[in-house]
Amino acid sequence: MVKPWKFLLCQMAMNMFYHVVKASLCLGGHDIFAAVRENSPTGQFIANLNIKGDPGANSIRLCLTGENSNWFFLDGQTIRLNSSSTRPLDRESQGSVIMAALSCYEEDTVQSQYRIMVEILNENDNMPVFMEETIQPIYISELALVNTVVFTVKAKDLDGDTITYVIDQASPDASYFRIDLPNSGKVVLDKPLDYESKNQLEVDIYAVEMNTREKNNVTAMLTVNVLDGDDQYPFFLPCAPISKDQVHSICTNPVYTSNITEDEEDVILNFAPGPIHAEDGDKELQEPLFYTILSGDDHGRFIIDNQTGEIMLTMRVENRLLSPLYRLRIMAAQKNDPRKFTVATALVHVQAENRFPPHFNRTTYKGFVIENSSPATLVATYGNQVLLVQAIDQDFKDGVNPRLVYSLQPNTKLYHITPEGVLVAKTDHLQAFDRHIMEVVAMDQESGEITHATVDVEVLQKGQPVPRSQFGEERLFGEMDAKIAGGIAGVIVIIVLAALFVLVQLLRRRHDRQDPVDRGSVALGKHPNVEVTSPPPTRRRS
Ligand SMILES: *[C@@H]1O[C@H](CO)[C@@H](O)[C@H](O)[C@H]1NC(C)=O
Ligand SMILES: *[C@@H]1O[C@H](CO)[C@@H](O)[C@H](O)[C@H]1NC(C)=O
Ligand SMILES: *[C@@H]1O[C@H](CO)[C@@H](O)[C@H](O)[C@H]1NC(C)=O
Ligand SMILES: *[C@@H]1O[C@H](CO)[C@@H](O)[C@H](O)[C@H]1NC(C)=O
Ligand SMILES: *[C@@H]1O[C@H](CO)[C@@H](O)[C@H](O)[C@H]1NC(C)=O
Repeated sequence: MVKPWKFLLCQMAMNMFYHVVKASLCLGGHDIFAAVRENSPTGQFIANLNIKGDPGANSIRLCLTGENSNWFFLDGQTIRLNSSSTRPLDRESQGSVIMAALSCYEEDTVQSQYRIMVEILNENDNMPVFMEETIQPIYISELALVNTVVFTVKAKDLDGDTITYVIDQASPDASYFRIDLPNSGKVVLDKPLDYESKNQLEVDIYAVEMNTREKNNVTAMLTVNVLDGDDQYPFFLPCAPISKDQVHSICTNPVYTSNITEDEEDVILNFAPGPIHAEDGDKELQEPLFYTILSGDDHGRFIIDNQTGEIMLTMRVENRLLSPLYRLRIMAAQKNDPRKFTVATALVHVQAENRFPPHFNRTTYKGFVIENSSPATLVATYGNQVLLVQAIDQDFKDGVNPRLVYSLQPNTKLYHITPEGVLVAKTDHLQAFDRHIMEVVAMDQESGEITHATVDVEVLQKGQPVPRSQFGEERLFGEMDAKIAGGIAGVIVIIVLAALFVLVQLLRRRHDRQDPVDRGSVALGKHPNVEVTSPPPTRRRS
């Protein structure tokens, strides 16, 4: 820094005139070129003047002038540093040179003038400082390429020291970055970013003096915000996550299902487990998608709204037995990049028309069963008729929906209900005077519709008559009527047939080895029961 050299007189600047007096006491001095360390203490020696006279004793007077003159004071002929604890000599704020002029007066006349130039020697009294604008929060796309420079930091050191930049490996996300050229401050991406798993990173960077003994350093904490890039594919909702990793929506696409009937046409289909809908996996971007049917539209029978994903049935299904199921492949793709797509299956079941739900024609069915030891007995109702617990479905001409399934609740081991709605009691587990109240549930396996009724079964004592009607009229029935007996035979035979069959086989084998006459009787087509029950035949009752 070259500042104009101001020859200001400390006093009497107006009448400055110059006349040399020979053998002046002011002579003998010289211009002063010296150096002093910055931060030197008050009174630090700078130079001696060496003029002939003695400023204390003779009539000469010395006067410091010039811009930096207050950095000096005179101690006889010695120039010393005028610093203080509140005003240390600082090269960084003062500049590298301080200058002044020293005038020597003799009887108020300037006799000589000397220049003072003092270089301030640098000390490492400044730390590096990051430039604020280089350590602001940074925004980087998750698609930023590895091994490219993603940002640059810069620090300054007032002492002019050379600075190197070092990533603090202990900082949370240090592993994402590296610095290849330590003096450049250029930070390179070391591994791929992923917005979906981490959208903000923190890394501490040191700026360290390289060329000093102290190797002072400062650190800056940098926040790196990761921006969402288009790196995820769309997926259909609802998402069934296939991994426990909550970060990425790794889903299996749902299989959408819908039910239609032969009657329907020009309707928008309702799908389960939700409407057909896909979303971009890049949560921030949410690129618009479009939908198409890849296959299974059956020549335009099904069309999809390419914006909403709604599927419409345009032509009715003529025969549900020929085409009970349509399987559609639905694609959702990004409008801006159709290579980013996903495919799901939609199943359309063609069902029988279902206008009426099944229903029971009474809320409570009354049943009776007479105590006995046989394993199975049909439950009767008033008048000793077989109790039929049947739901009626008016969608069917005869009221019988073949896909109705009956069940008892609570699930009991004492009773069983046949697909026809006939109640069978495990009589050997029942006791007279027991009363069982159960619920019969009928479910339409096609429509899922359900209806309920209550069954109230009383266990009667042996010989006790089954009431003829609800109103207490009684009729003695020693045995059930022929119709019931037939039904019983059917059920019982099913239950014990296997056992009987085995027995018959055993007996037949024995007969083979025994009596040819008996064998003949079998050959003649006699019912195997005859053999089983003889001798003496016992009458079975239910
Ligand atoms: C020394 O410095 C102080 C503070 O700046 C100033 O007040 C004083 O005048 C200076 N002394 C001389 C001799 O210039
Ligand atoms: C920074 O300075 C501290 C002490 O001031 C030291 O412990 C640390 O190791 C230095 N860091 C670097 C990277 O030089
Ligand atoms: C969506 O369908 C409309 C007409 O229905 C058509 O004009 C448009 O081009 C389609 N868009 C795409 C992306 O297929
Ligand atoms: C109730 O249904 C049963 C069996 O389906 C039938 O026998 C009976 O007559 C019906 N009763 C009435 C009141 O409709
Ligand atoms: C289609 O019908 C089945 C029963 O057959 C039912 O479980 C399912 O919920 C129905 N789906 C829709 C979307 O209504």
